[in-house]
Amino acid sequence: MTSTELQAKQAGPDAIDGYAPQRLSHLALITYDAEATTNFYTNVMRMPLVAAVMHERVPSTGDLMPYLHIFFRMQDGSTIAFFEVPDLPQAPPHPHPAFHVFNHIALEVETVDEVDEWKQWIESQGVEVLGPVDHTIIYSIYFFDPNGNRLEITTPLLPDWNDRPREAERAVQSWVRAKQEAADSGTEISQALHELIVSTEPSNFDAD
Ligand SMILES: [Fe+2]
Repeated sequence: MTSTELQAKQAGPDAIDGYAPQRLSHLALITYDAEATTNFYTNVMRMPLVAAVMHERVPSTGDLMPYLHIFFRMQDGSTIAFFEVPDLPQAPPHPHPAFHVFNHIALEVETVDEVDEWKQWIESQGVEVLGPVDHTIIYSIYFFDPNGNRLEITTPLLPDWNDRPREAERAVQSWVRAKQEAADSGTEISQALHELIVSTEPSNFDAD
């Protein structure tokens, strides 16, 4: 497929097709404690440790950066992975609470009852849980892993919750247009976006 063909496919509202990647292979994050991470993901999240590699250098860049890379698998074969790197300085604190709330990993289970069971289970393991939250389209609980990553356990309440490309495209277009119009007229962009949000027909997509 040429880049032009790919662009054409990405541009339309019916972009989900056979060229999209099949599924998540792995999402990789940094940990400062591989042992605590392994205990959490295997015992609390019930995701087995299925692969681990150690290298002295980063294969893709050649950088001298010794690391341990560990993978925890879900039922569909996708994994959440971590790197522990010796002597890594602490990351700077998030500059805004939005990073803490909106950066998250959502994991899907089959039913609302399962989400409720996960809440009980995770709380029984001494982990604080927020929710359940009924978002109308999905039903979710939220908590943090030992690395401070926000996790979500969720189940769809509507089968088409993630199959609304035209509605989504309109939302993105109106967002981009409002930013551009605010910039052009010299008005506050955040105020323009707030007005857009409150003036938009409430959709039933209110997930976080
Ligand atoms: Fe989410």
